[in-house]
Formats: sequence, C-alpha cells, structure tokens
Amino acid sequence: MKNRYDSRPIGIFDSGVGGLTVLKELLDAFPHEHFIYLGDTARVPYGAKSARTVERYTIQVADFLIRRNVKGLVAACNTASALGIGALRAHCDTPVLGVIQPGCQQAMVSINDKHSHIGVIGTRSTIASGAYPNTLALLEPQLKVSSLACPLFVPLVEEGWLDHDATIMIVEQNLAPFIKNPVDVLILGCTHYPVLKPVIGKILGKKTKLIDSAEAVAESLGKLFNNVIRPAKKGEQQKVEFYVTDVADRFQEVAGRFLQGLAVDSVDMVDL
Ligand code: DGL
Repeated sequence: MKNRYDSRPIGIFDSGVGGLTVLKELLDAFPHEHFIYLGDTARVPYGAKSARTVERYTIQVADFLIRRNVKGLVAACNTASALGIGALRAHCDTPVLGVIQPGCQQAMVSINDKHSHIGVIGTRSTIASGAYPNTLALLEPQLKVSSLACPLFVPLVEEGWLDHDATIMIVEQNLAPFIKNPVDVLILGCTHYPVLKPVIGKILGKKTKLIDSAEAVAESLGKLFNNVIRPAKKGEQQKVEFYVTDVADRFQEVAGRFLQGLAVDSVDMVDL
C-alpha cells in the first residue's frame, strides 16, 4: 500500500536563537522533513516575563507559522512551553508539542527508584510557573523535585563563554545546592543549557544524569506525527527556512554554536 504522508512543513519557534538546540535534534531525527524556524529576537528574553505576556507572544509567533500552513508546531522555548502552551492549544487546532512533557518523560526513564531526587534548572519564569514539578508529580507523585532558576546561563551561552573561568565560577555558584545535596537527574529546562552540558557535567560529576529536553522532543514528535512524517526518498533534500523578528545577522553569527557547526545560509526578518 502506498505510504500517505502530510508534506506540509513543521513550525518550530523560540524566543530567539536557543531553540536551535531543539531544531538540531529534529534535523538529525527527520532528515526528509521541511522545517520553518521562527526566533522572536525582537522580544527575547521571555525568561523573566509574566505569564500574560508570554502567552500573548506565544500566540503571535505561532500565528505566523500557522499562516505558513504548518502541519504541527514545536514550542522549543521552555518558557513558552511552561507559560504559553495552554493558551496556544486553546487558540488553534494545529497539534502543538512543547518541551516540558518530553523532558519529564525522559527523566522518568533515567531513574530507577520512584523516590529519586530530580533537579530542574530553567529561567526565572519557567521555575516560578512550577510546570516541571507539576508534570513530574503527575508522572510519579513520590519523586523529590528541587528547582533552581539560573538566569545568568543564557547570556554566557549567547556570548560564547562556554568554558571561560567566569562561566565555571557562575555555574558552580548557581548549582551549589545540587553540589551540597546531589540530585540523581538534572533536567536542563532551558534551550541554552545543553550548550553548557560539558561544564555542568564536570561540576556535578558522573552520578548526576543530565536530561536534554531537545533529544526527548525528537522522539515525541515522531509519535505525534506517527503516520504523517515524510518517508525517506532518494535525492530529496531537507529544507529549513529561518525567520527572526530582529537583528538577523547576529542570529546567523550565534546560530553555529547551537547547531554544532551547521551553517544558517539566510535569515529573513518579519513583523508579527
Ligand atoms: N528560550 C528560553 C527558554 O528556553 C531562554 C531564553 C529566554 O529567556 O527567552 O526558556
């Protein structure tokens, strides 16, 4: 029987450049899909904004992608996933995947005891929302969950200070509670944090498993689009379009750090 699939693109959005960590995983997992990425660089960061504002921004960026006839939306931004996804789902019929549920499911797979201690780090707004502990509690109410906001990590990554002495000091100071009371698993609940994985891993040691939501999202997307993912076709090229709401050249410059060397050839600026 002929394989039927939906050839429309998948929309992926973030407050800026950080969502490229998620896009990178999706590009690896679905080499024949067409992706449209939108970074809201005019209004980044979302991480210290109120739920009301993040909801409004999330709906505006999603509407841009919906107008481009996407078959599904990926909210790569943890803050948008924590604060805006409920409003977005109520607003549109397009299937929406956030990063919180996949990240929590991945954490559950990594523990071997329901009383395990799980750490979560994220932006101030993600941590204040309680989205991660609430989702984990639904999966396993007996877990011990400790959350920490690490707002300084985002600018360090954007500036490319990945193994600078100051970065090591700031990461150590921020994660001091998890050095004192080690966690079994640490969820990296922000798009930028996977880039700091080597430093965080060195500081917390091998006993703490680091969960990168970006990897988990690729698996969930495969399930969400089970029968509509484009099958491999010889000679067919993967296609990605990039849009930002401001300063396209800066986006292009920083993108390589998140896409692990993959180049972003062109970026278009749009008004929402
Ligand atoms: N993308 C955001 C997140 O994952 C981090 C940057 C921001 O604060 O907007 O929470």
